[in-house]
Amino acid sequence: MIARTPDSPPLRIAVLGSGSGSNCQSLIDAIADGTLNAEIVGIFSDVEDARILERARRHDIPGRYLSGAPFKTKIEGEAETRYLEALAACGAEVIALAGFMRIVKHGLLSRFSNRIVNIHPSLLPAFPGVHSWEQALRYGTKLAGCTVHLVDEGTDTGPIIIQRAVPVLDDDTPETLHARIQVEEHIAYPEALRLIADGRITIRDHRVLLPTAPATPPHPAALDHKGL
Ligand code: GRF
Repeated sequence: MIARTPDSPPLRIAVLGSGSGSNCQSLIDAIADGTLNAEIVGIFSDVEDARILERARRHDIPGRYLSGAPFKTKIEGEAETRYLEALAACGAEVIALAGFMRIVKHGLLSRFSNRIVNIHPSLLPAFPGVHSWEQALRYGTKLAGCTVHLVDEGTDTGPIIIQRAVPVLDDDTPETLHARIQVEEHIAYPEALRLIADGRITIRDHRVLLPTAPATPPHPAALDHKGL
């Protein structure tokens, strides 16, 4: 993770997305309202008419379609070179995946080691992969939610930065559950990027350590029994 403090210049984030880009929007909004010390230096999509590129245009952020060919589900080989070049050209320090429907491989992971984050619509390690909210409904979990994590070589296996939970209701459909999860995503993603931008994240082994609140004093009853 890059060394930073709350007084560092704005963190240079590139966003990669394939779809609507509502999570990208949550980052744009947090930057605009001054709660995230960052700048979005590029928005790249592997889908030519993705709505996320419209958001780039609307907010005057450099945005570009970057083909993932010849692959369908990953960024490797010549596609990886295209992405690496675009990311270098915009001076990205951190990559935020926001609904990017491809797996990033070694070239990007090594160039941006511990500097690629992803938002996933489940409480990992439950339900990695696609349509996690449908998986949660089918399984019958009582809680669902979202996870922001660092990206490693596995699928949705990287160190977890933040999670937020929502209840699963008896009459939920995939759509209503996903909508409830997305409300939390739009809080979690700027919050996780804020921790990175302010240099408040430490990675130890597979764990992301966050700044702690002052320790809660022990309950008096626990002290009474001390030594018994
Ligand atoms: C989100 O649910 C995110 O968790 C998943 O893909 C979806 C993207 O939504 N990775 P959006 O494009 O940000 O609206």
